[in-house]
Amino acid sequence: MIKRILAGVAAVGALGGLGFLYYAWYPSIAPVPRPAASSFSAAQIERGRIVAAEGYCAECHTRTDMGGGPELAGDYKMDTPFGAIYSSNITPDEKTGIGNWSEAAFHRAMHLGVSREGEHLIPAFPFDHFTKMTDQDISDLYAYIMTRPAVSMAQRPNELPFPLSLRILQAGWKLLYFWPGVYKPDPRHDALWNRGAYLAEGNAHCGACHTPRDFMGAEKRSSDYEGAVVDNWIAPPLNEHNPTPTTWTEDELFQYLRFGVAPLHGPAGGPMSPVPHRFLSTVPEEDVHAIAHYFADLDHASERQGHDKAALALAMEQSKAGLIGPNTDPDAKLYQGACAACHYNAAPTPVLGRPDLALNNALWLDEPTNLYQVILHGLTAEEGQSGIAMPSFYNALSDQDMARIAAYLRRTRTTLPPWTDLEKKAAAVRKTVQHVPVNSSH
Ligand code: HEC
Ligand code: HEC
Ligand code: HEC
Repeated sequence: MIKRILAGVAAVGALGGLGFLYYAWYPSIAPVPRPAASSFSAAQIERGRIVAAEGYCAECHTRTDMGGGPELAGDYKMDTPFGAIYSSNITPDEKTGIGNWSEAAFHRAMHLGVSREGEHLIPAFPFDHFTKMTDQDISDLYAYIMTRPAVSMAQRPNELPFPLSLRILQAGWKLLYFWPGVYKPDPRHDALWNRGAYLAEGNAHCGACHTPRDFMGAEKRSSDYEGAVVDNWIAPPLNEHNPTPTTWTEDELFQYLRFGVAPLHGPAGGPMSPVPHRFLSTVPEEDVHAIAHYFADLDHASERQGHDKAALALAMEQSKAGLIGPNTDPDAKLYQGACAACHYNAAPTPVLGRPDLALNNALWLDEPTNLYQVILHGLTAEEGQSGIAMPSFYNALSDQDMARIAAYLRRTRTTLPPWTDLEKKAAAVRKTVQHVPVNSSH
């Protein structure tokens, strides 16, 4: 009896294995000569430029370490919990890029995460979002990519340990976590909402940073936009759990995504900074409105914004109270010396370019990570609001100083419980700073 069960299990196992191989196997698609630029219309190339901007292709496909590299030529190093991965050269170079990929091969890569040669691509390439793109968008994107300058540049080999280095295993990941398919409009919502959802869920892959991942590196579907750690920053929740005291309304979202600064919330720093500055400021304004419209619905802005007036008044009160009257609190003095000159606000609203810390996510998240990142790095003139900068305090403040400022701001500007282990966390964030910023004050 037991033998028959075992034989049965083995047979099912073998069938499963065969089924898996059938599922996992893709043919190579024959190379083609690089298509002539004249085979694409100027209008199609321009549409493709917008699609490429909305998917930040250049952000991940351009080397930033080792002195940088040519745009789209790849070799951008991505540190994952499993090991470093290097992006591909996607310029139309025929040897080291994708110059001999047919449109069908390109479409398959975007839609299914499979290379021209038939190998599974690693989901650090966010094909789990790109799969939602329409055939027309992928076709336009192909026209744009194929008409960029061809650059000969080979990427460094990935540093994934065995057996993760086996690409066939990626098929197992896909079986568990990947649902290919173009975005389906939701008939309960209007065209603007659906355009926003199409972009956010698909090409613009906001969830790739703002949704937490499980131990297999997949976005947790039950926790969409609950906030996540990315590149040693916290990408805050974008749903109704966003902790900032004033609501992310459609207009705040639009200003932030289009210009890199929201009047009430402050600037887009760290990994968020290129999203507005390098990309969403270069696409049709209507698309940015659509994304803002979508997230304002997702965070239930219309139901929550009733509290904004009171929250704003309280923040202005706290900002002012920190500066007037005799102050014996040594932490307050430290803050006044280092920060208050540039962050002081008074009613009725903060001055643009002088973010009010009582309203900024840096004080309201569960961890002081973003606050420490900003203190250590400062913000360059390219980040946040264009042309306005904050110096780095990397050299000027010790971990203990940073901990005192963090504790002080948390207790005087928020209604939340104090952060713990502040000095240890300051040292941990300091360790992640790779280059001491050149604008660091002494
Ligand atoms: C978040 C980072 C990221 C973004 C954004 C991104 N890619 Fe990639 N892409 C990668 C990585 C990493 C790889 C290599 C994956 C691997 O080795 O399996 C890759 C691989 C590819 C490949 C396969 C190339 C080959 O030779 O096999 C194509 C095609 C591609 N990307 C196109 C694009 C396009 C077009 C965009 C913009 C719409 C884009 N990527 C945006 C990270 C990214
Ligand atoms: C590469 C990762 C990344 C991507 C992609 C990304 N974000 Fe962010 N986002 C972040 C980080 C990190 C922050 C925190 C920045 C800061 O505090 O200055 C942030 C901040 C924000 C904030 C401010 C939240 C707050 O409470 O202060 C909003 C709104 C936002 N992102 C929306 C979006 C939208 C919409 C998209 C897609 C169009 C998107 N993000 C794509 C990483 C990302
Ligand atoms: C010389 C003026 C100046 C000083 C001093 C200064 N800041 Fe700033 N800070 C700014 C400006 C300007 C911005 C907005 C930059 C932008 O929009 O690009 C900013 C932004 C911020 C932000 C928002 C970052 C984000 O991504 O949302 C935080 C948090 C912050 N500062 C904290 C501090 C703290 C804490 C100190 C003291 C240790 C300090 N700042 C000292 C000028 C300053």
